[in-house]
Amino acid sequence: MHALAGALRRGGSLRGALLAGLGNGASLRISSSAAAQAAPASSSGKPVLMKEFLVYRWDPETPEKPAYKSYKVDVNSCGPMMLDVLFKIKDEQDQSLVFRRSCREGICGSCAMNIDGTNALACLSKVDKSASQATKVAPLPHMYVVKDLVVDMSNFYAQYKAIKPFLQKKSMDSGGQEWFQSREDRVKLDGLYECILCACCSTSCPSYWWNQDKYLGPAVLLQAYRWVVDSRDDATQERLKYLDDAYRVYRCKTIMNCATVCPKGLNPGKAIAKLKQSIHAEKAI
Ligand code: SF4
Ligand code: SF4
Ligand code: FES
Repeated sequence: MHALAGALRRGGSLRGALLAGLGNGASLRISSSAAAQAAPASSSGKPVLMKEFLVYRWDPETPEKPAYKSYKVDVNSCGPMMLDVLFKIKDEQDQSLVFRRSCREGICGSCAMNIDGTNALACLSKVDKSASQATKVAPLPHMYVVKDLVVDMSNFYAQYKAIKPFLQKKSMDSGGQEWFQSREDRVKLDGLYECILCACCSTSCPSYWWNQDKYLGPAVLLQAYRWVVDSRDDATQERLKYLDDAYRVYRCKTIMNCATVCPKGLNPGKAIAKLKQSIHAEKAI
């Protein structure tokens, strides 16, 4: 080691210094670490690691057909998540790239997209740094594309609005008090209230792909159950009556893609099963 440092100090080349080090009994481990130091460094100080990303691009204002565009990014010079890579591409290579995001914390639900074939939030998806394979990024499947990675969520939001996602009381006069709930009743909302309406589940559901004009889909049905099971709500019967329809609920065929992809670890399939039981029993189950 001293011989290596000495040779470099004396102004010798790295190769010469390595040979000098080995000649003096230095180990191969030392030579590989020196070689790594010699590799070009990224802004983080780590070696440059270029990786290819194939990003879906489509601009409705140009005649070009949709296509995947290739970008090469040094994944050691940006944050670890897919959203960081998209920002790096937009900031440094192609300002025309369009995607939605807001919180970058897995809370707003706006950065949902399809990454290497699976729906996910870009801000919570760690980049696979294995440079041998390109990562493919596409909009949420079976949705109308507005531009690049942005899809039209109008139908999804209209369906959400249709289930009346708010507390309904026979009388809104609470006597100046909060609407109290027992601890046991509050626990029933766990696994439901955490939904951020990202639509990862609905757009991974084959039933929703084929019938999204009539089937409400897992995200909206999970939200519907959240209000059906809320002990403070007085509209349970009306809610169940609205949902009792061959398409709105019963297009769910328990395929369970929804539970597999949910970035919040929720299980919409289970909520839908509870909804079906509630419809059958004519009360919240
Ligand atoms: S369980 Fe139901 S909602 Fe979930 S993916 Fe399957 S069909 Fe769709
Ligand atoms: S259930 Fe999960 S995947 Fe579906 S909208 Fe809510 S947070 Fe997103
Ligand atoms: S940016 Fe808000 S969930 Fe990803």
